[in-house]
Amino acid sequence: MPVPSTPETAPIRPVDDPQARAEAARLLRAGRLVAFPTETVYGLGADATDENAVARIFAAKDRPRFNPLISHVPDAMSAFALGEATPAAERLAAAHWPGPLTMVLRRRTGCPIAWLTSAGLETVALRVPGSAAARALLAEAGRPIAAPSANRSGRVSPTTAAHVAEELGDRVALILDGGPCPVGLESTVVDLSGARPRLLRPGAVTREQLEAVLGPVELAVAGDAIAAPGMLASHYAPQAAVRLNATDRRPGEAFLDFGATRGDADLDLSRSGDPVEAAARLFASLRDLDRPGIAAIAVAPVPEAGLGAAINDRLRRAAAPRG
Ligand code: TXA
Ligand code: MG
Repeated sequence: MPVPSTPETAPIRPVDDPQARAEAARLLRAGRLVAFPTETVYGLGADATDENAVARIFAAKDRPRFNPLISHVPDAMSAFALGEATPAAERLAAAHWPGPLTMVLRRRTGCPIAWLTSAGLETVALRVPGSAAARALLAEAGRPIAAPSANRSGRVSPTTAAHVAEELGDRVALILDGGPCPVGLESTVVDLSGARPRLLRPGAVTREQLEAVLGPVELAVAGDAIAAPGMLASHYAPQAAVRLNATDRRPGEAFLDFGATRGDADLDLSRSGDPVEAAARLFASLRDLDRPGIAAIAVAPVPEAGLGAAINDRLRRAAAPRG
């Protein structure tokens, strides 16, 4: 009989220790999860360009939905290599980066951020954190780091390394400790990808501060509720129709399999039936099959277990009647 394994708790090391940061950067580049402090809250970090690493963020958080994630970079130049700079974005960067501000920008051609990170959207959310230690880590990692708050879904955002250990200690490779977060509230999210700036999530940088730089800023949310981007009309949906729980293939359809049920599938989310691998490939696969001449994408049944629930939630919304 195998002995039940005790879940291991990740080591907690000071973010000011260059060796600890070097180890964290190495783990991130290897696709592992690392929790790190920012001035707002602790982040659950993964390589934003590695779809499998990002899928592990969702698995670790037990997230019910694939919301788009913020990618963290060490400076504005790195941000504008990923998202399209506009004059407004440049002014805002000069005024508030580094700091508790996230900009949603149009994805540049060739942007390496994984489609799962941006939930299939043509935009990317970018932030240069105020914490110098966090920026040093990002510079060392050498790639954008996707990081939602380091708590399980539906729980309070962690502002100390001890909170992170309680929430996710058995699910991350390393926790970097930078003491209590000075802001304690998630960053302000402003969308600069459209004709007019829109405030998607209020935060430490106030609307008044944004308007001093940008002029009028529309409110996308009432009060301090967090906009659920999965519910926004702009959320990615393929041009082709989507047919769920498909076991046959009809004329004009592309077939997206799960668990190798058919020999003639165009793509398989996971031949071995692994929901984490399937999550990693979901948005890229839908994009791939969404070609001219394809009437519908037929998708094999995906079991609800683990990330299957989030995959099915996204597929149901992709299949819902369009307005
Ligand atoms: O303070 C923070 O921002 C923390 C720390 C760790 O940096 N991070 C954080 O990340 O809160 P996350 O990934 O949980 O924040 C995601 C927010 C969502 O509210 C979502 O609406 C918005 O960013 N977002 C991300 N990408 C977006 C996009 N392409 N379009 C619209 N909104 C987006
Ligand atoms: Mg959160």
